[in-house]
Amino acid sequence: MSQSRETLKQRLLQQARQRRQDRPDESQTPSPAGPGVDERFTRFDRHPGYQQLKMMREGGQRLGIPDPFFKVHEGTAGATTTIAGRERLNFASYNYLSLAHHPRVVQAGIDALNRYGSSVSASRPVSGERPIHQALERSLADTYEVEEAVVFVSGHATNVSTLGYLLGPKDLLLHDEYIHNSTVVGAQLSGARRMSFSHNDPEALDALLARHRHQFERVLVVIEGLYSMDGDAPDLGRFVEIKSRHQAWLMVDEAHSFAVLGERGLGLREHCNVPSTDVDIWMGTLSKTMSGCGGYIAGCRELIEMLRYFAPGFLYSVGMPAQVAGPSLAALAVMKDEPERLHRLHAISGYFLEQAKARGFDVGDSIGVAVVPIIVGSSVLAAGLSDALLSHDINVQPILHPAVPEKSARLRFFLNCDHTRLQVDHVLNALETEWQARTQ
Ligand SMILES: Cc1ncc(COP(=O)(O)O)c(C=O)c1O
Repeated sequence: MSQSRETLKQRLLQQARQRRQDRPDESQTPSPAGPGVDERFTRFDRHPGYQQLKMMREGGQRLGIPDPFFKVHEGTAGATTTIAGRERLNFASYNYLSLAHHPRVVQAGIDALNRYGSSVSASRPVSGERPIHQALERSLADTYEVEEAVVFVSGHATNVSTLGYLLGPKDLLLHDEYIHNSTVVGAQLSGARRMSFSHNDPEALDALLARHRHQFERVLVVIEGLYSMDGDAPDLGRFVEIKSRHQAWLMVDEAHSFAVLGERGLGLREHCNVPSTDVDIWMGTLSKTMSGCGGYIAGCRELIEMLRYFAPGFLYSVGMPAQVAGPSLAALAVMKDEPERLHRLHAISGYFLEQAKARGFDVGDSIGVAVVPIIVGSSVLAAGLSDALLSHDINVQPILHPAVPEKSARLRFFLNCDHTRLQVDHVLNALETEWQARTQ
């Protein structure tokens, strides 16, 4: 090939290359962000989260299973609830002692609203402080038999903000593998190293501490008082012994165990007969039995003072509305004044567990207090059974993958002190019938 033909060919190739570079990618429509930015990064409907939601919905439609989420309850939700104009037996609300609609609790909300108005209109340190906040915190601290307590406006934010503030990059957070998302997010925010140990396995924790304690400054272990997917509880005494030996802190998230476990509702420490000061950080939510909204940390004065002055979710967030604090304060008082509510909850949950086991259902390791799962082993079956039970006027939530591993997809039953044995028998009969219809 001559020199000039070679040069011409090179020039033509170069021009073609340039044209290709200048041409917009035809697989994509123009992006509102301008040329060059892939629309995956500019459109919400191309976000992986939305794609996942679409897939879930399409899967449900293909299988003829309606979306089990966002069912509208038209009144109070206790042992029964109203959905789509019909009264249903309800096993999906954590109003365990029926205090969220107790007349004293409701009246406390009305009184607080009348006295303090609908918002405290400032963060607590800068003009949002009200006597009702102090009364609630005093009552929680006294119930826990610790020096102080502080309440946050959200249970989830309580964990995020407390862990995010207390720990840093030179610290280690160890948690049960089934720990609630709020602890994981708090750990991520803190920059601490995070490791999980197998569920309810103190020996696994001991081994991790033996291997890693010396590499870190502060070490915090986080467990829950009653695991809300499984209804099982840790051996607190064993965890206390291990954390003390390794000079670590222990935090117990009592979202589902406070006002549920123990003869007096004092939570995991009463259930396991462990002094409250053996635990460094008690955490709980006001959204379950406490019939309000928000969370608390209870412990020694220094811990609580530090959180009050510096935890971002407290310092930079509005104070709890009085009409939320009031009902939680009243709920705590009613729990103490009417201990029969706890006794009825314990009795009916124990009956549910015993009857479910007798019928051969897999209830995992549930201890039979307030939370009993029935593991069905597939998300499709769990969603299908929940939908079928609704047609029997029974409301129970399916727990699907990825909230739990696919093979342990389940129906999760929250018991309530007002449930009766007849109702429990009815539910388990209906579940047996529907399960057989689907698997035989
Ligand atoms: C163990 C645990 N911790 C924290 C939270 C967050 O609490 P809240 O829903 O009150 O924000 C929950 C919520 O259910 C929980 O189960």
